[in-house]
Amino acid sequence: MPEALKVRWEFFYTWEMLPFDVSAGPQGLARTLLTVADPLPALEGWLDQGAGRLAPVLHALVAELAGGPTPSPLSHAPLEVSLGDHKVKLELLLLPSIFAPEAWSFTFLEGLLRKPGTFYRGKRVVELGTGSGFISLALLSFTEIERILGVDLNPQAILMARLNAILNGFDAEGREAPNRLHTRFEASISDLLRAPREHGFAADLVIGCIPPGHLPGGGSGFHPGPL
Ligand SMILES: C[S@@+](CC[C@H](N)C(=O)[O-])C[C@H]1O[C@@H](n2cnc3c(N)ncnc32)[C@H](O)[C@@H]1O
Repeated sequence: MPEALKVRWEFFYTWEMLPFDVSAGPQGLARTLLTVADPLPALEGWLDQGAGRLAPVLHALVAELAGGPTPSPLSHAPLEVSLGDHKVKLELLLLPSIFAPEAWSFTFLEGLLRKPGTFYRGKRVVELGTGSGFISLALLSFTEIERILGVDLNPQAILMARLNAILNGFDAEGREAPNRLHTRFEASISDLLRAPREHGFAADLVIGCIPPGHLPGGGSGFHPGPL
């Protein structure tokens, strides 16, 4: 193995719980991960090692998942969103435990994108119930929003949203894309606005589409209160 590659992948050795053969590169790591019944501990560990290093493995995971069925609970959804002539392609890594974008997700996004571009310029936004991060990542792709904090009660959703920001914010060589999605998006476990309040995240705008049954009190109304 070339010396540079050895250094580049060395960090995967440091996670002692996993017998991954790093000399196999991103594709080998991805293939091994897809044989593991619970890929979450590995993904959490790898997330700590840096987005640029993890991105090639995530791209390799998507390529493997696109190649046919695997025993892994991980799946992927390639999505294309258009706004006039502007087309954005997003790849999402998903788990059965998190929401996959559905028709109403696109309706919600369509409503958000009806606002003129100037409406979002430079704004800081909180997305309640970010799930896979789909709405936030699409909105960041089409607008000049400065930053979105996506929050969700489900820790697995937050992990996948972080991974999806890396997957769509870096290319397969680990270079950050011009959209800077990874820099502009962060995700936090939170019951509604608890985390933004605790972290002092000052937002200009709060968006979200959480089914009423999920909300405290059965969803008779949504009153998140001031940030
Ligand atoms: C219908 S999904 C929407 C996911 C994503 N926005 C999309 O369009 O794909 C609603 C999300 O809200 C989250 N959720 C439900 N109650 C919540 C709460 N009290 N605080 C934060 N997130 C919550 C769920 O875990 C779920 O991921």
